[in-house]
Amino acid sequence: MSTTEGAKPRLTVLGTGYLGATHAICMAVLGFEVLGMDVDEAKIETLRSGRVPFYEPGLPEMLQKALESGRLRFTTSYEEVAEFGDVHFVCVGTPQRKGSTAADMSYVDAVVSGLAPHLDRRALIVGKSTVPVGTAARLTSLVQSLAPAGTDIELAWNPEFLREGFAVEDTMRPDRLVFGVASDWARERLSAAFAPMLAADVPLVVTDLPTAELVKVSANSFLATKISFINAMAEVCEATGADVQDLAAALAYDNRIGGRFLRPGLGFGGGCLPKDIRAYIHRAEELGVGQAVSFLREVDAINLRRRARTVDLIRAQAGGSLAGVTVCALGAAFKPNSDDIRDAPALDVARLLQEEGAIVRVYDPQAMDNARRVYPDLHYASSVAEAAAGAQVVALLTEWDHFREIDPVWLGELVAKKAIVDGRHALDQFAWREAGWDYKALGRT
Ligand SMILES: NC(=O)c1ccc[n+]([C@@H]2O[C@H](COP(=O)([O-])OP(=O)(O)OC[C@H]3O[C@@H](n4cnc5c(N)ncnc54)[C@H](O)[C@@H]3O)[C@@H](O)[C@H]2O)c1
Repeated sequence: MSTTEGAKPRLTVLGTGYLGATHAICMAVLGFEVLGMDVDEAKIETLRSGRVPFYEPGLPEMLQKALESGRLRFTTSYEEVAEFGDVHFVCVGTPQRKGSTAADMSYVDAVVSGLAPHLDRRALIVGKSTVPVGTAARLTSLVQSLAPAGTDIELAWNPEFLREGFAVEDTMRPDRLVFGVASDWARERLSAAFAPMLAADVPLVVTDLPTAELVKVSANSFLATKISFINAMAEVCEATGADVQDLAAALAYDNRIGGRFLRPGLGFGGGCLPKDIRAYIHRAEELGVGQAVSFLREVDAINLRRRARTVDLIRAQAGGSLAGVTVCALGAAFKPNSDDIRDAPALDVARLLQEEGAIVRVYDPQAMDNARRVYPDLHYASSVAEAAAGAQVVALLTEWDHFREIDPVWLGELVAKKAIVDGRHALDQFAWREAGWDYKALGRT
């Protein structure tokens, strides 16, 4: 039995997906001994061999560095995790439960139940996954009843705010750290685990457990609301002939409002925002305060309407019917600089187009393999040129720089008809119109 209490804690990371792999790799680069654990053996093998199993800029280089340092190892064994670690980070998924809007807590429960029986000395379990408020309290009882070390095992919550596409930067230099703790000891352990960030003056907010759990869902609710706000304004603009892009630009000059997340378009998706606001509504209702967050239902509805409305615009560009129309769909990932297609608006639009009889040719710089796996019936192209050849409508659905930089004159020579729907307000409408394109975007005339 070993302990490094008081010194640099040895860290374990349970669940090595987008969040966990990034956390494990960055913490090793920062000088900690780290053991990453996952039940997915293929993922562990990939990481061991020095490859990142998903696309995240800068992370492969960091993985190399971490492996070369000898401080990062991977395993599939709970026993090894318990033996090695002083602070155990829980980074498993909390997706939307099937047939419900609630969070599926089965992975969190499984990881805690799998680890606890092996914990025979004092240790801190730190949740990073996004969970319904009250989870840490529930897990504390569960862990303490299962672990040989009993009440020597504590729970803390350290919500994670990293953005895919900027995950390395956000992990190495977060905007802020939130420590949800139930004791001074837990706070000291977390401070030791984040010593490099605290030394770099990253702001720290120390809270109780439920507050820390709520910070993450509140942050995501706010961001989702801001996006849906400007998209709701886009709907009004469409009915009045106003221009939502100009409206957003004018609002953004007000410092109290600000321009970030005030970009109109196809709306949000991904593995966090949609399922987090739904789970929050569900949890608030369980707690009898559903009314307090009922506006989030509208936020969700506005967001989903953007997808249907984008299909409407594409159909209009096709002349009123999509049957047999070839559509060049630029983008599959839920946002640029990621290969994540969870609840991706782009693929939802592609699917809806296909349901109406369109021949949809999808191209994405990074998300092709994931998209093919989940939507095998769509057509896939290996480049913008291949996707655009002979297309009757082009739809920009994910705002990769690669697409922003397309020369409208060049693309105009490949397509059958110069009609484009800019689902992300990412293109210079004047340049495209100048090149002879019929340019349309949501909330713009
Ligand atoms: N992806 C993000 O940008 C992000 C940002 C902030 C917070 N979060 C939150 O972090 C959590 C994880 O998200 P993600 O995107 O990394 O998910 P993910 O699906 O990419 O990764 C989850 C990993 O957990 C593994 N796993 C499942 N059961 C396990 C078990 N019993 N033991 C060990 N590993 C197990 C899976 O195999 C998978 O590799 C979620 O709660 C999410 O809401 C994600």
